[in-house]
Amino acid sequence: MDVKNICCIGAGYVGGPTMSVIALKCPDIKVTVVDLDETRINAWNDKNLDNLPVYEPGLADVVSKSRGKNLFFSTDIDTAIDKSEMIFIAVNTPTKTYGEGKGMAADLKYVELCARQIAQVAKTDKIIVEKSTLPVRTAETIQTILDSTGNGVKFEVLSNPEFLAEGTAIDDLFKADRVLIGGNQTPSGKKAIQALVDVYSNWLSPKQILTTNVWSSELSKLTANAFLAQRISSINAMSALCEATEADVEEVAHAIGTDSRIGSKFLKASVGFGGSCFQKDILNLVYLCRFFNLPEVASYWEQVVKINNYQKHRFAKKIITTLFNTVNGKKIAFLGWAFKKDTNDTRESAAIYVADHLLEDGANIHIYDPKVSESKIKADLVYLWELRGISELRISQKIAQIFVHKDYNKALKNSHAIAVLTEWDEFKTYNWENIYQSMFKPAFVFDGRNILDESLLKSIGFQFKGIGKG
Ligand code: UDX
Ligand code: UDX
Repeated sequence: MDVKNICCIGAGYVGGPTMSVIALKCPDIKVTVVDLDETRINAWNDKNLDNLPVYEPGLADVVSKSRGKNLFFSTDIDTAIDKSEMIFIAVNTPTKTYGEGKGMAADLKYVELCARQIAQVAKTDKIIVEKSTLPVRTAETIQTILDSTGNGVKFEVLSNPEFLAEGTAIDDLFKADRVLIGGNQTPSGKKAIQALVDVYSNWLSPKQILTTNVWSSELSKLTANAFLAQRISSINAMSALCEATEADVEEVAHAIGTDSRIGSKFLKASVGFGGSCFQKDILNLVYLCRFFNLPEVASYWEQVVKINNYQKHRFAKKIITTLFNTVNGKKIAFLGWAFKKDTNDTRESAAIYVADHLLEDGANIHIYDPKVSESKIKADLVYLWELRGISELRISQKIAQIFVHKDYNKALKNSHAIAVLTEWDEFKTYNWENIYQSMFKPAFVFDGRNILDESLLKSIGFQFKGIGKG
């Protein structure tokens, strides 16, 4: 099939950047990104590129080169479906918060809605591409829905998981380690796979494009994220042992990372991993293993999430115990709220859980993040508390203990302790001497990312606690 029109349902962190790069690299293909959320689409169309709804280094440049030429953002989902030969599904698939599989399974309701809408609108044959991360065998569900219309339209469902990491998404798309395309191993399935291979071949070499059957592709995405998260939980588990034994987790990570069988990436001990993917995908994997009656496999992977929760909890507890067993009425400054640097995404950020713990102990938390807004920070906390069934009165009391600043000096001044929650580069460049002068003494720094210069801060007079430092 000759693909000249691509549509993507879901203009989020995945759909937006991915489609922008496809449009840039494939000038002969018209790419339309659609979304139910009108505000989001308006932001993608905003003349001022600083207002794009997703912050990613390099994204504004890519969008500016293609938008209005062969890249369009719209809320007219039906027209985009109708006009496209290939349709990507990149809607969100959060962990279910209700009913069967609550707290574990991926919620596929948006994916199902997309499939139903495509089935209803399509009048010509189409290739449907799963971009969202989905449980293995979801393609079967999508195919069943699509094939139930009885209007004679033929659909081929492909799995093409995203492996981009936020903050480096554009680079990851330009120079992908690999693109994975799974499809049915039938003649029409193979043709569909080839059509998508042709799209990516506009800028990637054949070596970078892997093709598999559809189930392997779906499961590879979950496996990749489980392995990456497992490395972080492994080093974070060791960080607790380092603190008890006076070993230094950075030295341990370096020592093991030089073994080429282990490798050095994803061994950075931290306050805990966040992001929309790792926890959700592992819980989904655990749910699937239980479903297929593999309880030992399920428990093995569940431990990765448990260690991550333990790490966030441990960090908050360390702040409280170090501050003489209470933070009640004390000013605790947070540097960073995003789940990692170079993104405005806060989903599952460790900062949310650390803040929650400290608020319970009565702290006043003053937050500075270069890219995250006050409304987002408060919405993250309210979402967590509503999910836990906390009363409106208690929520308003706790929110009154949160202060968000646009100037980091205001967040840090007169604080009892500073906690680094995100590894933004700018934190390393601050004048720590001046900051020290402006704080209550003893002045504590809890570096949840091990990015600050420990010996410098100690020489200034700070009481300094890193992660995994004896
Ligand atoms: C993605 C993937 O799709 C998810 O499976 C993966 O694990 C994480 O990343 P992401 O792009 O980060 O999701 O999600 P989000 O930024 O929430 O964007 C999804 C968009 O889909 C939203 O803008 C939402 O409005 C839109 N949407 C959702 C629709 O247009 N239609 C729907 O029915 C549901
Ligand atoms: C991840 C996967 O890397 C990507 O391939 C997939 O498509 C989506 O999920 P993302 O969540 O955007 O990407 O970021 P990632 O760089 O993987 O970081 C996830 C979390 O782990 C962040 O909170 C980060 O700070 C943390 N992390 C990462 C560590 O704590 N230590 C590390 O060594 C690496």
